[in-house]
Amino acid sequence: MRLNAYLARAGVASRRRADELIKAGRVRVNGEPGRLNTFVAAGDRVEVDGREVSAQPLAYYLLHKPAGVVTTVRDPQGRPTVVQLVPAQPRVVPVGRLDADTTGALLLTNDGALAHRLAHPRYGVEKVYEAEVEGDPDEKALRRLRDGVELDDGRTAPARARRLGPGRVELVLHEGRKHQVKRMLAAVGHPVLRLHRSGYAGLELGGLPPGAWRPLRAEEVARLRTLVGSAARGDRRTTA
Ligand code: URA
Repeated sequence: MRLNAYLARAGVASRRRADELIKAGRVRVNGEPGRLNTFVAAGDRVEVDGREVSAQPLAYYLLHKPAGVVTTVRDPQGRPTVVQLVPAQPRVVPVGRLDADTTGALLLTNDGALAHRLAHPRYGVEKVYEAEVEGDPDEKALRRLRDGVELDDGRTAPARARRLGPGRVELVLHEGRKHQVKRMLAAVGHPVLRLHRSGYAGLELGGLPPGAWRPLRAEEVARLRTLVGSAARGDRRTTA
């Protein structure tokens, strides 16, 4: 594909404006200055003002992560990974992580800017967990979960907690520390037996079975961007 077409596909500029950027020496291909007649092939690295741009469409998938699958792109131990459960192209990465034995809502995307913000503690994205626990938490235990629990990395922020049934608790957090739910419930005397995330940033699994995924709808992507104040990327295409 011609360099100006590539830049247009990447949402950088119209082809005509892309030609201007190229002539101004602001575009490099594999480290060399781009020219009007430069062709871009698969695997080439294109940079505008030193920032890599990509003509891949943006993709956003909501996966119902099953148990036994690790939230990583590549696992040195060879265990199945979440990226193997979604389409291989365009390449996406998980936003945040769930433990291998945790099931539930996991977002995967190649929209790096949005992923970065969603995972950043500053934005306090809401996560809804359903836990099966040892014993049956009473109101005192629930109140401790709501008020904040002292963990070895500090006190947890106020959370919502309610009993769903015998030995079943729903926790709504705006933090995302490692093993946080398991550590919080253990700290109030109710170690987790099973953990499921039913909601992430307002996205819900609905009837999606374990191991299945769906693309986000355009309005869901727009809502996520609004949630974290991330502007839409001009004319970049989306598969959502
Ligand atoms: N908290 C946990 O303990 N585990 C998870 O997978 C997610 C949140």
